[in-house]
Amino acid sequence: MSDIKFAVFASGNGSNFEAIAQAVRDGRLKGSLVLLVTDKPGAFAVNRAKALGIDVCAVNPKDFPSKAEYETAILEMLHEKEVEWLVLAGYMRLIGPVLLHAYPKRIVNVHPSLLPAFPGKDALGQAIDSGMKVTGVTIHYVDKGMDTGPVIVQEPFKIPDGWEREEIEKVIHGIEHRLYPETLNQLFAEALEETK
Ligand code: GAR
Repeated sequence: MSDIKFAVFASGNGSNFEAIAQAVRDGRLKGSLVLLVTDKPGAFAVNRAKALGIDVCAVNPKDFPSKAEYETAILEMLHEKEVEWLVLAGYMRLIGPVLLHAYPKRIVNVHPSLLPAFPGKDALGQAIDSGMKVTGVTIHYVDKGMDTGPVIVQEPFKIPDGWEREEIEKVIHGIEHRLYPETLNQLFAEALEETK
């Protein structure tokens, strides 16, 4: 049976995108990463995709009269590439009904907090400002809410006293870069098993 074809959605730096692409190359993630989708054509993730030889679908939402039309343009590209799963990695935009209906239970996201704590933007800043001693990473299915879908896996991280934001951020990213490919590998294996 052929590998699951998936697309990564990213809006910025794309370090998770690259970690996922690397895991596919190394054989730690059995799947086929066929497309990077971005809402920010100038995002550094696009440079990473070009360097890795991965196709890019860069669509600026401002070029469309509605979210539905923006997502329909993306959906056409996803269908063209026969994409089966959507993997959000720093995609800073809510997924709308067009993509949710096209990919039921086939859209996942990584978030740098122990959800339901600190959804939305700058989760780490929110955790630090609240004086949290423990934070972590959540991988979850995507629904129409902001970081609200069912949790798949979480990994906590105890913040050592006196650590600066940059040090904590480095550890959080390290967890994401290992945990996301591992989790995707498991989800794709289960999805393939279900179709047998
Ligand atoms: C990651 O830490 C990811 O968890 C977070 O954005 C960062 C993207 O980094 N996502 C969210 O906050 C989603 N609500 P990257 O572009 O280097 O992968």
